[in-house]
Amino acid sequence: MYRSHTCGELRISHVNQEVTLAGWVQTVRKFGSITFVDLRDRYGITQLLFGEGLNAQLDSQPLGREFVLQVKGKVVERSNKNPNIPTGDIELEVISFSILNKAATPPFTIQDDTDGGDDLRMKFRYLDLRRNAVKRNLELRYAVNRSARNYLHENHFMDIETPFLIKSTPEGARDFVVPSRMNPGQFYALPQSPQTFKQLLMVSGYDRYYQVVKCFRDEDLRADRQPEFTQIDCEMSFVEQEDILNMFEGLIKRIFKDVKNIDYTDKVERMTWNDAMLRFGNDKPDIRFGMELTNFKTAFEGQSGHPEALKIFEESGFKVFNEAETVLAIAVPGCSEYTRKQLDELTEWVKRPQIGMNGLVYIKCNTDGSYKSSVDKFFPEDKLKALADICGAQTGDLILILAGREERTRKATSELRLEMGEKLGLRKKDEFKLLWVLDFPLFEYAEEENRWVARHHPFTSPKPAHIDIMINNNPVIDNPAEYLKHPYANIKANAYDMVLNGNEIGGGSIRIFQRELQEKMFDALGMSKEEANHKFGFLLGAFEYGAPPHGGIAFGFDRLCAILGGSESIRDFIAFPKNNSGRDVMLDAPSAIDAKQFDELQIKLDLK
Ligand code: AMO
Repeated sequence: MYRSHTCGELRISHVNQEVTLAGWVQTVRKFGSITFVDLRDRYGITQLLFGEGLNAQLDSQPLGREFVLQVKGKVVERSNKNPNIPTGDIELEVISFSILNKAATPPFTIQDDTDGGDDLRMKFRYLDLRRNAVKRNLELRYAVNRSARNYLHENHFMDIETPFLIKSTPEGARDFVVPSRMNPGQFYALPQSPQTFKQLLMVSGYDRYYQVVKCFRDEDLRADRQPEFTQIDCEMSFVEQEDILNMFEGLIKRIFKDVKNIDYTDKVERMTWNDAMLRFGNDKPDIRFGMELTNFKTAFEGQSGHPEALKIFEESGFKVFNEAETVLAIAVPGCSEYTRKQLDELTEWVKRPQIGMNGLVYIKCNTDGSYKSSVDKFFPEDKLKALADICGAQTGDLILILAGREERTRKATSELRLEMGEKLGLRKKDEFKLLWVLDFPLFEYAEEENRWVARHHPFTSPKPAHIDIMINNNPVIDNPAEYLKHPYANIKANAYDMVLNGNEIGGGSIRIFQRELQEKMFDALGMSKEEANHKFGFLLGAFEYGAPPHGGIAFGFDRLCAILGGSESIRDFIAFPKNNSGRDVMLDAPSAIDAKQFDELQIKLDLK
């Protein structure tokens, strides 16, 4: 028997018992003739006391950091208790010990506050994983996993595995491809999601499916994206959107309860995509705070803006606003006393390439009732007040205004709102606000190809009232500059995203389940009949054999864990993540392969 207890287990009630522990040496502290050692395992830390009797043995077999040690000893009450750890009332008086394995000096300290940089910790990830901070993240991940599985099982969902070696049908992200030795010159793709398989399972009658499943996407990486990531993927038959929203609000609320002990009793807010874009400039708004956008002037979905503001702009002769497609504002509470320097910094911030604006206009709603702006030359005080009133600004507020092209300005204002929310401490890590964003556009315009692409994916159904628009109009875009005037631009989808604190944690849709409509969809995306059959013939075929109405959703499991754990980066919640260039620095992958492997695959490498 290697151990009778774990290093996190012993309490005052164990005093006088003889026990055996095994673990890693965290620290060794020698005081004259006695030595203290902190022994660590997954469960905690226990202090060991090596008395005089063991001195000689310790001298001949010195202990080092991260040695694997087995000790037999007697539990005794500590004179100097440590209230910071659960085992802090006791220590183990060592009777005998055995070094199970030595360890090289680790390249960084394995403690909560480590001295190891990101790259070093990733290279030695197996050591990083010993740290409490990382361990807690993986424990949270497992707790979310368990909670989700329990809820789904209780609701009659069945976990069914789907293949990883599938057919390449890129749409959205790029596929990772795998050459087939047995079929020279042919390739599998790794699934971007099990989307078509779960739909086929519905056709097969497994009316509630789920899977905690790896997905693979060859896309540019960010803090919240990995090339391989995990989804909680779900699908249901005989459901309408409302059924899905209820079922999966239930899932997330259950996870809140099980993992964070939060009773999320509030109704989950719902917002249409249009409203989210107009009010927050973003389809995944953080609704923990207000500071909503004022649409002084906008080209969004055929709108023009606020009539009174438009009139004030015209009279002002201020070209920047009059020539801009869009002028948006936010009223930042309590910031009217921002200094010149602070305002300059904000201006620099919006001019950064990631934000891409030319400048920033401000109006200060001073506490003495006066108004001051960066454009006083064009706007007398009464006009500034009128604009402030349109924004619903209070005295003490600082109004920030951005002007430019619709899409860029909306995005920039949204970013500015988040930045100001962050500065003002309104984005609290321990506050959780869920939101459903509904009624997304079915299509998005792909400029480079001058065609429509599916905003969610090609299996998403249009709103019933919009099916006719899709069927009765030609998808071809004659005038790219005016694509927004094409009837397809107005078609809304039966699609929904779940947003948590400004992050898209899940997305799904009610699916198309009739062959004709699915064919029309492929046609709308510019796919010929042959191409559609080549890529998705199996699905179109399945729809001929009694496909039930169905819909589903997939949650970004890593993202959900990161947010619940209060972190920006999903990497912290993945045992063996890739870095920002998609590399596993521990394995040093991707890497070149042997000539023999190329031969077997009958592939000749000819890099451009
Ligand atoms: P979607 O593409 O919206 O939907 O993905 C679902 C959720 O997965 C997460 N996610 C990611 N997480 C980490 N790294 C990535 N690269 C990454 N990409 C996506 C997001 C997202 O909300 N088959 C559909 C679902 C359906 O229609 O049922 C799908 O995959 O949190």
